[in-house]
Amino acid sequence: MNLGSPNRVEHQLTDKGYVPVYTTAVVDQPWSKYTSTDHEVWSTLFKRQREILVGRASDEFLRTQEAMGMTPDRIPKYDDLNRMLRKATGWELVGVEGLLPELTFFDHLANRRFPVTWWIRKPEQLDYLAEPDLFHDLFGHVPLLMNPVFADYMQAYGRGGVKAHGIGPEALVNLTRLYWYTVEFGLIKQDDGLRIYGSGIVSSKGESIHCLDSAAPNRIGFDLERIMRTQYRIDTFQKTYFVIDSYEQLMDATRPDFTPIYASLAQHEAIPAGTVLDTDTVFNRGTGEGWATDGDV
Ligand SMILES: [Fe+2]
Repeated sequence: MNLGSPNRVEHQLTDKGYVPVYTTAVVDQPWSKYTSTDHEVWSTLFKRQREILVGRASDEFLRTQEAMGMTPDRIPKYDDLNRMLRKATGWELVGVEGLLPELTFFDHLANRRFPVTWWIRKPEQLDYLAEPDLFHDLFGHVPLLMNPVFADYMQAYGRGGVKAHGIGPEALVNLTRLYWYTVEFGLIKQDDGLRIYGSGIVSSKGESIHCLDSAAPNRIGFDLERIMRTQYRIDTFQKTYFVIDSYEQLMDATRPDFTPIYASLAQHEAIPAGTVLDTDTVFNRGTGEGWATDGDV
């Protein structure tokens, strides 16, 4: 059955603990080598998430995912998706072995290339995987790259990352929180209620339900500097979700130079993941039920 293992180069200590870091090379998607089990894992996860996400994911996420032609039938081919994506927003997918060193990742985004892990989880890992696989990357991240405003935001983030990398580790921490609370775990306010657009949520059954239906987490209006100060969870559901009004709001917030913002944030303490401030726009003040008392990063 074996496709071989992804090419891991080392483990690196980050704020997420020791994470594997992979070779920076771009690789071809070994599509003809996916096994029937691999395709079944895709199919099972795809059907399950699409069912849960009706009425939960943002209209734009559902629309762009359909427009790309992703189906449960089989693992999509990057080449097919790229034909749609290049035409829509000039982005393209490139295959990678897994998590990339930060600067390599930012450089891809800054050049409108989205790195997608080529391998997919095993059947016994449907509900939890410590690192992103093909399902998370393709199903979760790629659809909104069809949206011109979101596509521009992702590129702006990549450029910001290259710059923050040159400024220093604190700036990178601030910027990573923005990615975490928008691209990975963001909610959006539609006329008919709050919806999900974050990839970390849409690719997780448990969190897709929890983030909207549970009384436990805070749901708070988007605020760039507030988010850049806020710690997050890597091992449990988030304690707080931030809600944008529109994708334009994200893009507008990202337009200014962050350099003076980083300097001013360096004067402030980080905000724990579950804290609500007097200045917050509160959609839901979480009950905090089930929260771990330590482990915010
Ligand atoms: Fe992700």
